[in-house]
Amino acid sequence: MGFYFSSNAIEELKSQVNIVDVVSRAVSLKRAGANFKGCCPFHNEKTPSFVVSEQKQIFTCFGCGAKGDLIGFVQKYYNLDFNDAVAKLGEEYGLNLEKIQSGPDKQKYYDINKMAASFWYNSFTKEKNMGYQYMKERGISDAILKTFGIGYADESWDSLYQYLLSKKVDPKDMVELGLVKKKDSRYYDKFRNRVMFPIINPSGKVIGFGGRAIGDDTPKYLNSDESLIFLKKNNLYGLNLSKNQIKDNIILVEGYMDVIGLYQGGIKNVAASLGTALTQNQAKLIKRYTSDVVLSYDADSAGRNAALRGIEVLTAENIKTKVLHVTDGKDPDEFIKKKGKDAFLKLVDNAVPQIEYRLNSVKGNLNLSKDTDKIEYIKRCAKVLNTLSPVEADIYVKKLASVLKVSESAIKMELMGKSIIDTPQVKQQKDENKEEISPIEKNILKILFTNEDFLPKILDNRKMMESRFSNKILDLALENKVSLKNVQDMLDPEESILLNKILDEVKIGGNEEKVFDESVSRWRLKELTKEEKEILTLLSMADEKENQANMKELTLKLEEIQREKNKLSRG
Ligand code: UTP
Ligand code: MN
Repeated sequence: MGFYFSSNAIEELKSQVNIVDVVSRAVSLKRAGANFKGCCPFHNEKTPSFVVSEQKQIFTCFGCGAKGDLIGFVQKYYNLDFNDAVAKLGEEYGLNLEKIQSGPDKQKYYDINKMAASFWYNSFTKEKNMGYQYMKERGISDAILKTFGIGYADESWDSLYQYLLSKKVDPKDMVELGLVKKKDSRYYDKFRNRVMFPIINPSGKVIGFGGRAIGDDTPKYLNSDESLIFLKKNNLYGLNLSKNQIKDNIILVEGYMDVIGLYQGGIKNVAASLGTALTQNQAKLIKRYTSDVVLSYDADSAGRNAALRGIEVLTAENIKTKVLHVTDGKDPDEFIKKKGKDAFLKLVDNAVPQIEYRLNSVKGNLNLSKDTDKIEYIKRCAKVLNTLSPVEADIYVKKLASVLKVSESAIKMELMGKSIIDTPQVKQQKDENKEEISPIEKNILKILFTNEDFLPKILDNRKMMESRFSNKILDLALENKVSLKNVQDMLDPEESILLNKILDEVKIGGNEEKVFDESVSRWRLKELTKEEKEILTLLSMADEKENQANMKELTLKLEEIQREKNKLSRG
């Protein structure tokens, strides 16, 4: 019967049991003022940063961030769910905690599934059958078949139904579990002529089944219906076995046969998400056993997309994630059969950290020897790097800069959304929008049309003329070597109107020389201010230790700019 502890029971437990006492059984603690300190059991450390407060009855690790109360500690340290943690403490401290019976009887369903599993296991092992023959052809040993409790559902339409009936199982419950279907008041077995894979949760309960067609029947796999005890999104196939085999990491694969194939090949820290996208709950489940995952999905594009989605889900739980794709065969099962354990372990060793995997995947079909593609690639990378912590981002900025042979600061600017490198598209867009004509430009145009002799001087300072409009006028004046009167005639009607408007508006009162010099100074001041801002941004981002030489150079440049600015604004 399902149950949970009442809130009174939880209160009682917390008031009776001291967290310092419980933690001391697992961690050697020393008093430190009002608190206790020790080495954190949840990450590797030599200097203690794990603190237990007796007063507040909580623990906190300043190294890895683990924290919680008494029950949280027991859950985390002993890999237990809440109920089991409370039960363990209650037992150890001899408390009789109040239990409340809850909901439908899950145990009944577990028992029925277990009966079905042993019925199919018997058919598989005791008589000659196509399921056993099929699994033998796929090279699975008797020992492994037994370890995974593989069974055979025969071809008859009701053998399981009849068996369960003889065991006094209510047909309603068989239907509820998806073992049996009902049509027009007749019951029949859902799984027929299939190899049966029991799905067993980490507490050892049979929660559902996958049934593989023998040969090319469709669907290839038939799975138990979702039920009170079987929610695909909360479980991983094989974790019941692999949870005790995890030293550092767990290998996540797509399918039943990948788990069995790797396990038989000697890679036992493996589990499968059963062909569906990895879920947040599955990630949480994994986190109970390890924070280190290697995704080993199929080598096709579906497998690659699944890996990208998996990365997202796992990193959201702070799980360190790497990715490998087998280099021979379509999936891990085929690979290990062909190449063996050591070759697979080599792939695990060379698995690509998630960030690099994402950076690689945004490369798509870009040709990085082309500048425009390189710029597009940097923009895509910036999006990926923006999801990282500053320290991580910094490492990859350096790597990218050296691989792509661009400056780190350029990539950093991309990260801050301040593009200093424009793609041709963006540049064109900007140019098109640049129809605004600055007051400086208007002055210069007025000067030009007042006194043609200024043309060479203006061309010397052509950068001031930023609009497409001004540049068109300068081009016409330059290329055609015609008088400015004619230039005016060669403009489009709207442009001609605009020019006349500017010439009317701007008054320079015969002071062309003075206004020209002023305009140049004003423009120069504007440019210097822009440069100054950029340098300040770069300085604020640079790493003091690593970029010393660089920073010195930038600082000198900054001083020079500021001197010139002062001079200009005084003059
Ligand atoms: P795969 O097609 O890769 O199967 O689907 P597999 O595990 O490698 O099996 P073999 O080697 O071809 O026999 C991966 C997983 O997707 C789910 C199953 O969980 C399967 O293990 N799946 C696939 C289904 O649920 N139904 C299907 O029809 C196919
Ligand atoms: Mn597969």
